[in-house]
Amino acid sequence: MLQATNLRKTYLLGRTKVPVLRGVDLSIQEGESIAVLGASGSGKSTLLHLLGGLDSVDKVGADVAAPSIMFRGQDLTKISTGKLDEYRRRRVGFVFQFYHLLPELTVLQNVTLAAMTALGAFEYFRTRSAVRAHARELLERIGLSHRITHRPAELSGGERQRVAIARALINKPDLLLADEPTGNLDRVTGASILDLFTSLHKAGQSMVIVTHDETTAARSDRIVHLVDGRVQAG
Ligand SMILES: Nc1ncnc2c1ncn2[C@@H]1O[C@H](COP(=O)(O)OP(=O)(O)OP(=O)(O)O)[C@@H](O)[C@H]1O
Ligand SMILES: [Mg+2]
Repeated sequence: MLQATNLRKTYLLGRTKVPVLRGVDLSIQEGESIAVLGASGSGKSTLLHLLGGLDSVDKVGADVAAPSIMFRGQDLTKISTGKLDEYRRRRVGFVFQFYHLLPELTVLQNVTLAAMTALGAFEYFRTRSAVRAHARELLERIGLSHRITHRPAELSGGERQRVAIARALINKPDLLLADEPTGNLDRVTGASILDLFTSLHKAGQSMVIVTHDETTAARSDRIVHLVDGRVQAG
């Protein structure tokens, strides 16, 4: 479903160029789950942001093979910002390392807001009751129905992460991208999140999970390592 070729990303630190990704190639098949492992600072989050359309690749000269991210026949590195925006809002579900929930909104509102941004206000208000029902159903599936009117500050880390996952799923994304979804959780809570990902995968969800955790990695179809700015298999 997605084929990334020759992705390069360099950050500027003052005047120093820090190359983080140096030509990453990665393909994701429909329904596949991939675990990305790599040392801290190896560029895992950077890669996930590129795949999710949250950041853009380096511009390269004619002497270097051009980068591309093909998603169902469209090259994300070339499409208009409007199209890229649509990809980000409708095709991808992103679970951030540190949740990024909106503190003033309830659990239910945090989840439905993602639907509102994907659908646009008009369509959202037209289909609001169905969207809310879907959000409730998702929250129930991940064991949070008793928390829907709570705000993030009143939740544990594991509960916040589950809200973030429900938010990532509300638009039925083609591709789920999760950045260390169990990184900040204790082992038991982490295991329950992992079970959730496993059941999503069994139901056909395509996903890329960044992780430090061997158990998470072992449950995926394929493990790739990010080393020296490139992807190594196995
Ligand atoms: N916006 C930025 N500006 C400058 N440097 C950055 C920026 N974002 C990331 N970096 C640098 O790029 C490198 C890769 O960062 P990235 O967050 O992708 O690593 P990571 O593999 O996700 O690490 P971790 O496992 O700690 O989350 C790091 O050295 C980081 O300092
Ligand atoms: Mg990271």
